[in-house]
Parts: sequence; structure tokens; C-alpha cells
Amino acid sequence: MEFHGYTLTQVLAKEEIQNRISEIAAELSEKFHNEVPILIGVLNGSFIFLADLIRALDIDCEMDFIKLASYHGDKSTGTVRLRKDISAEITGRHVIIIEDIIDSGLTIKFIKDRMNDADPKSLTIVTLLLKPDVANLDFPIDIVGFEIAPEFVVGYGLDYDQKMRHLPAIYRLEKE
Ligand code: IMP
Ligand code: MG
Repeated sequence: MEFHGYTLTQVLAKEEIQNRISEIAAELSEKFHNEVPILIGVLNGSFIFLADLIRALDIDCEMDFIKLASYHGDKSTGTVRLRKDISAEITGRHVIIIEDIIDSGLTIKFIKDRMNDADPKSLTIVTLLLKPDVANLDFPIDIVGFEIAPEFVVGYGLDYDQKMRHLPAIYRLEKE
């Protein structure tokens, strides 16, 4: 597929993504049966995943968002900055972090420390995608949708310079 001069090769089809989301939703619904967790979406990339995931849940839940920045174009800057904090009170609550992708692991580390400072009742980390070959993590990720190769991917919420988020599946981006 061609898009604005880039070649896109599909890595995950719409159906594969939706099937995995059903499984993740079932797992979360069972884990938090009779609880009302707060799902915290990491903006901007996780907004489509979060929207699909909450509609597949069988339990009641609340939602909030956090926004961080560590990327420019397709390169990580190595530092994480908080752009928008959560507004919900999470002390004593079951918190579920919803990420689009874990690359170096820097962003999720920052979020985990920040959430734990507020002393939630539990903290569960869910990511749609993980690049295990590059992620440098000293804690486990509770739920991983798919492990992928260390390549730059776009679509289904994931961007390249804020574009291509609207693409319905996940594609590897190839530059000329
Ligand atoms: P990390 O801090 O290196 O783990 O990077 C996390 C953030 O970088 C993700 O939440 C994404 O917003 C962005 N990112 C990392 N890899 C990709 C990619 O392949 N495509 C699009 N965004 C990415
Ligand atoms: Mg992100």
C-alpha cells in the first residue's frame, strides 16, 4: 500500500487486532469482576485501542488520559515529558494503563512510577504492541497484545509525525 510517498506493509490485520482485543477484554473482565477499574489511556496513540477495548468489556469502568512525549518523527528522544496529567483520583483504585506500543520502555517506566506514587490499589499494564528486542524493562508487562519486530509501525492509532493514525490495520512503514 502507498501512502503519501511511503510504502506500507501490513503487519496485523483488522480481524487479528479485534480478536486479540476480545481476549484481552475477557481477561480484564474476569480479573476485575465486581470492581470498577479506571482505564488510563496514553495519548495520543492508544485512543483507538482504548475505544475498542472498553466496548468489549463486560464490567463497569471509568476512563482517563495521560499524555507524554518522547518521540520526534520516528526517533525516540530518550527523555519523557509530561504533556497532560490525569485528572482522576487514583489512590486506592484499580488502575489499568492502556498503551499502544512499548518500544524502549522509557515511557511506560515513567508512567508506572508516576502512578505508583499515587498509591493505587492495583496497577495493571496493558499494551497492544511490544518490541521485545529493544524494550529494556525491569518489571513485567501484564498483558501484551502482540510482540512485533523492532520496526516502525503505523495505523490503528499509531502515527508517523501525527499522521496515519486513522489507518484501520497496523503497517510497517518503509521510507524511500
Ligand atoms: P518508548 O518510551 O520508547 O517505549 O516509546 C513509547 C512511545 O513511542 C509509544 O507510546 C509511541 O507513542 C511511540 N512509538 C514507539 N514505537 C513506535 C512505532 O513503531 N510507531 C509509532 N509510534 C511508536
Ligand atoms: Mg504512545
